[in-house]
Amino acid sequence: MLVLKASIFFGIVVIATAYPQPKLHSDAGLNALELIEKYEYPIERHNVVTDDGYILEMHRIPHGRTNAGMQNKEPVLVMHGLLSSSADWVNFGEKSLGFILADLGYDVWLGNARGSRWSRKHVRLSPDYNQSEYWSFSWNEIGKYDLPAKIDYIINNTGHKKIFYIGHSQGTTSFWVMGSERPEYNDKIRLMAALGPVAYMQNLHNPTAQEASENIETIQSLIEAFGLHEFLPYSENTTSLGIELCDDGSELQEACLDAIFMICGPDPDQLDPSLLPVIWTNIPAGTSSKQFLHYAQGIKSGIFRQFDYYSDEKNNAMYGQPTPPNYDLSKVKAPVALYYGKNDWLAAVKDVEQLSEELGNVVVDHLIEYEHFNHLDFLWGRDVYDMVYEQLLDLMKKY
Ligand SMILES: *[C@@H]1O[C@H](CO)[C@@H](O)[C@H](O)[C@H]1NC(C)=O
Ligand SMILES: *[C@@H]1O[C@H](CO)[C@@H](O)[C@H](O)[C@H]1NC(C)=O
Ligand SMILES: *[C@@H]1O[C@H](CO)[C@@H](O)[C@H](O)[C@H]1NC(C)=O
Repeated sequence: MLVLKASIFFGIVVIATAYPQPKLHSDAGLNALELIEKYEYPIERHNVVTDDGYILEMHRIPHGRTNAGMQNKEPVLVMHGLLSSSADWVNFGEKSLGFILADLGYDVWLGNARGSRWSRKHVRLSPDYNQSEYWSFSWNEIGKYDLPAKIDYIINNTGHKKIFYIGHSQGTTSFWVMGSERPEYNDKIRLMAALGPVAYMQNLHNPTAQEASENIETIQSLIEAFGLHEFLPYSENTTSLGIELCDDGSELQEACLDAIFMICGPDPDQLDPSLLPVIWTNIPAGTSSKQFLHYAQGIKSGIFRQFDYYSDEKNNAMYGQPTPPNYDLSKVKAPVALYYGKNDWLAAVKDVEQLSEELGNVVVDHLIEYEHFNHLDFLWGRDVYDMVYEQLLDLMKKY
């Protein structure tokens, strides 16, 4: 009997070890607010209204875990990329940039772009019932209206005359728009740090994006004809599918990684696959089709300029000229630090070099050593602290 019991027990142990039940990451399923609470940071929600009526929600971490009493904290506005949200900066556990900044004594404001999950609001228009009007924006408007409104709000609330700005991807594109179209805002920026900077896109080594941009005019007219104004809105159904497909227990996890690498550049070493369900919990967070189209136009034209309606008449009506005006990057006079990767399929080295030459005040131009650094490593790379954040944080101390 004892032998039988022992062998059953042994058998169970063998089976249990041979087939470990993968455990879902304990941060999966948590949104930005819940993540901030879980990691025991204070959280405030602030709504700001833009000049054109969009209501934007910012998530503020006013201090770190041990420095609540510290006076005069420098505010930093942190802006996410396309399809993302404030969650990007707090979903990497203790390694999250949002938490690191708060613990270092910064007053952290995480922005959410218009139309995304937390900022899908307007004083007059409904994103569901007034679609063609509500969704008629790209990162042009995010730069022209969202960022200035947020910056003014932060300055007004904290009494600081200047703030830090950190942007990833679209969070950099919109900043270039602001700096050139609303140049008076350059004086309100202590330092702008660009992670994976995007302006010029002609040299993208990205088959997916290249292909889409080849047919941009057709795609654009189809999108208009079918009234597809909103693109990949946040939905629990979509995100839970992502969690299921990309989880450690899923046979499709490899395919899930490959799909991400196809768009952002392959880097199998820096992304921990167990983190995928945490990432997918909050992505996609929603955007306008026009944001995608505007990027695709830039891939095709190789020019960093305003939205092209591909109609002389419409362009004339909007801009008083048949082609969209270029953004004047030399007007971006805020001090800018550029951090970019050699294997970033959404921000090619050559394109960032052109951007760097044209910007008005580049103080740091840093190509990251590591060969495989891709577009997402800025957020979730295992060694992102050593490779990027450490130098960035050092630089911020000097401004
Ligand atoms: C928005 O849509 C609603 C419902 O269809 C409509 O009553 C309202 O007039 C629209 N508002 C604007 C500004 O178009
Ligand atoms: C600045 O803050 C004050 C007090 O909170 C408020 O009354 C005012 O409307 C704010 N101004 C702007 C531009 O946000
Ligand atoms: C989400 O899934 C549930 C159950 O499968 C379904 O009832 C609901 O309509 C879905 N929601 C959306 C927005 O598709």
